[in-house]
Amino acid sequence: MQGQEANAEAAPFPSQDLPRHIAIIMDGNGRWAQRRGLDRTVGHREGVKALKPIVKEAARLGIQVLTAYAFSTENWRRPSQEIDVLMGLLVEFLASETPELKEEGVRIRTIGDIRKLPRPAQESLAWAMAETRQEERMILNLALNYGGRDEILRAVNHWRRVTPEGSELTAEIFQQYLDTAGLPDPDLLIRSSGEFRLSNFLLWQLAYAEIYISDKLWPDFGPADLQAAIRDYQTRQRRFGGLG
Ligand code: FPP
Repeated sequence: MQGQEANAEAAPFPSQDLPRHIAIIMDGNGRWAQRRGLDRTVGHREGVKALKPIVKEAARLGIQVLTAYAFSTENWRRPSQEIDVLMGLLVEFLASETPELKEEGVRIRTIGDIRKLPRPAQESLAWAMAETRQEERMILNLALNYGGRDEILRAVNHWRRVTPEGSELTAEIFQQYLDTAGLPDPDLLIRSSGEFRLSNFLLWQLAYAEIYISDKLWPDFGPADLQAAIRDYQTRQRRFGGLG
């Protein structure tokens, strides 16, 4: 593994059949910390540190959209101290990394109901999104207070509010009401820490995604692991329900 990581920069560029959109469930921060006898929040801090090289590598490889599951609608059930740390880390991440991400051509946006986040988090997000509004190389899509079921219900209710009685909802119209409106569906879902679950992530959009599970805990997941996931994806035969 070590050799592979050292070679991450030099590894062949997997250009054919590159996924346009990669979604990541960054799982295992808590276990990473607990295994070292540390507080779970230390794992989250390491988890944030792990995100930046992944974003940079994805942009370098030519990925168009990277969606990272940073805080789910279910995560509010965690102890308030852990929630506070996660929200604080989000603010720190945006303040320290936005300028460099902007330089790398990364546009920051969100999915999820961010109106329910603490005010400092909302303000940092508004700033980071405005700062990077013009960037076009890659979208870093942060899923915050995000849940697939919540997103679907918000979309349907929104559509119903603005649509005359008796209209029929189609897939094409429905997608325009999702938080991901305008983005391609993820081609590849990566989940770290060896768990085989969707955890309420992008339930509609992942319909035909290829799934890659890494045994690495998220703080240990690096650019070489992202490359391995993409190479694996490139061996898959995608049929979208047809015969290929
Ligand atoms: C899962 O680990 C991870 C989360 C609930 C949050 C993911 C968040 C980050 C990587 C950092 C936040 C990102 C930003 C941009 C601020 P877990 O705690 O469920 O780990 P466990 O399954 O080992 O307990």
